[in-house]
Amino acid sequence: MPPYSSIILIFIAIAMMTNMSIWAQPANQNRPTLRGLTTLRPPFVEKDLNGKLTGYFVDLLNEMAQIGNFNYTLTDSVNQDSTNDGFQSRPTGLINEVFRNRVDFAIADYLYRTASQQRYVDFSDSYMESNLSALIHKDRIIQNNIKTIDDLLDQRSKPPAVIPVVNQQQQSYQSQQSNQQQQQQPEEIIQLGTVRQIYRDLSVGTDPLSRRIYEQLHNNPGNMAENRQIGIERAMKTPYAFIQESINNELAMDENCELKHIKLESTNFPMADTHYEYGIIGQKYSTHLEIMNRAIRELKANGRLDELKRRYWNRKCNGGVNSFEQYRYMLTVVTTLFSLFLSLFILS
Ligand SMILES: *[C@@H]1O[C@H](CO)[C@@H](O)[C@H](O)[C@H]1NC(C)=O
Ligand SMILES: *[C@@H]1O[C@H](CO)[C@@H](O)[C@H](O)[C@H]1NC(C)=O
Repeated sequence: MPPYSSIILIFIAIAMMTNMSIWAQPANQNRPTLRGLTTLRPPFVEKDLNGKLTGYFVDLLNEMAQIGNFNYTLTDSVNQDSTNDGFQSRPTGLINEVFRNRVDFAIADYLYRTASQQRYVDFSDSYMESNLSALIHKDRIIQNNIKTIDDLLDQRSKPPAVIPVVNQQQQSYQSQQSNQQQQQQPEEIIQLGTVRQIYRDLSVGTDPLSRRIYEQLHNNPGNMAENRQIGIERAMKTPYAFIQESINNELAMDENCELKHIKLESTNFPMADTHYEYGIIGQKYSTHLEIMNRAIRELKANGRLDELKRRYWNRKCNGGVNSFEQYRYMLTVVTTLFSLFLSLFILS
């Protein structure tokens, strides 16, 4: 046997393996087409130059569709009323669209399981989980020796000399005490802030950690950030700790390498109110969600879900984590091309 024929045999084997999954696919006739809605926000979903949706959710849905044997359409909602307001008596935004049966499912970076939303829609198994964390400038974490969320929350219970003077009355009172202390540079206090949606979530929280955080937020309404971008910028430029889901803080850290986050985890309450579970929403008792759940469980079990997430997280500041994905992708392209050439060669 000439040496090159054994190489060809190897490629035949590879070609067969890569094509096998196509042959194994069941017939398409009974695939339902599910109508889906989403909201644009990179890297979850974005629109490329041709108007095609891409991103983490699209990759996820593609894999789920393959396993669950369904087709789907995904439209980005033009409705900017996207915040899920737990206190509103009527469903809004994507929740309303699903609730009114205008679409079969919705997926968005702000759709996580809460009691108030489950009045209107059901959630699939979680495809992503997150705890809250506090985003702070690296230098401030070192300067103020912040290691845990307790260090951040306890800043205010230090001796009164370090509290910055707030108003005239206080000033005259303090000047009676000690002039020397006044002259000292007041130690900075890192302000705690968040966005409205998370503030609302925390306001109904019951575990001790979320109560403590909520109290501080409640007492400092000026620290509320109008949106996530503003919160991130405040953390960059001022003594400010921006509280949001760690998956979002990780994305911010990817954009700004000077930022770090402190986890808000309470060891006593692992599934506390600072824990978020993201799911796809569908109509109450939707059978489509059952199909999706099966797909999510399979993707979890075979590690594919983690792999998908790695494509979009830790891309820049944490350096090179993604080179494995790129390598895998290249390998797939090369083997597919080879099997194609080989098929042509055999057919001719
Ligand atoms: C579902 O998608 C497959 C593959 O893209 C396509 O061949 C098929 O016609 C679609 N089925 C329906 C019902 O749209
Ligand atoms: C959230 O916090 C809990 C408790 O510390 C921990 O067990 C869990 O792994 C964390 N989950 C994520 C996604 O970080």
